[in-house]
Amino acid sequence: MKGIILAAGSGTRLYPASLPISKILLPIYDKPMIYYPLSTLMLAEIRDVLIITNQSDHAAFKRLLGDGSHLGINIQYSIQRVQRGIADAFIIAEEFINRENVVLILGDNVFYDPSFPTLLKNIIKRSDGATILGHKVSDPKRFGVVEFDENRKVISLEEKPENPKSSYAATGLYFYDDRVCEYAKQVVPSSRGELEITDLNKIYMRNGKLGVEPLGDEFTWFDTGTHDSILLASNKIKELELKNKMKIGCIEEIALKQKFISAEDLTRNINKYKDNGYYDYLKELVKNS
Ligand code: G1P
Repeated sequence: MKGIILAAGSGTRLYPASLPISKILLPIYDKPMIYYPLSTLMLAEIRDVLIITNQSDHAAFKRLLGDGSHLGINIQYSIQRVQRGIADAFIIAEEFINRENVVLILGDNVFYDPSFPTLLKNIIKRSDGATILGHKVSDPKRFGVVEFDENRKVISLEEKPENPKSSYAATGLYFYDDRVCEYAKQVVPSSRGELEITDLNKIYMRNGKLGVEPLGDEFTWFDTGTHDSILLASNKIKELELKNKMKIGCIEEIALKQKFISAEDLTRNINKYKDNGYYDYLKELVKNS
């Protein structure tokens, strides 16, 4: 199973904040945004990750995450040179995917729920077809909107519709079987010139192979594409971290808990960081492990 984080895109909605730096590197509370989607892949026990960036942001992502060996995972990078849409990820990543099943997460998607790791592991066991996650929102027009039957089979999917057929947004986390690259090549550019992820998912839907997992109302999900959603997500993460006395999206902690690295590895990696709450938290974890 391979994992892809799409961290390209110009982020113009967040200018000037995202002018000198990719929006996916801006902080959500106490860590860079990309920690959250990366933590989702790690919770799904995915250890082969491709990060797709813009040409100009590529070096900054590499500086932050390197080759992933400090987390016990393997991180590779590719560049999306022209903004050709989300489904273009599967054309860029074809060699990396190498006919395996693959999970794609958008770099600005933040998920949290105590049940999430189990849900991820259950979805990943399905070897055939595709699965998306649906989350009830008050403003579905801003998203891909998914309508489904009692068997959780998708019956309609529309990208940012004027008249949404349901209040379920398709989140930016997608699970595919080994046909995804072949299908991505069949997607025709939309009126805005992009290969839409919704059109790729519709190929699976037409084949009767697109399932949805509806997330409960208490499930935390953010698409942090606007200033307000960054602030809302930051406040929510802070609140959850204080309440649960543990960090969310803490990739070093997940690497330790998943046994991708040992307590000694973690200590070696973080010892140089002094007077810093984030690393103090990790040092405490090691002490108690
Ligand atoms: C993208 C997808 C949309 C999905 C959303 C989730 O939209 O096109 O279908 O609902 O991500 O985050 P964007 O946020 O790029 O406008």
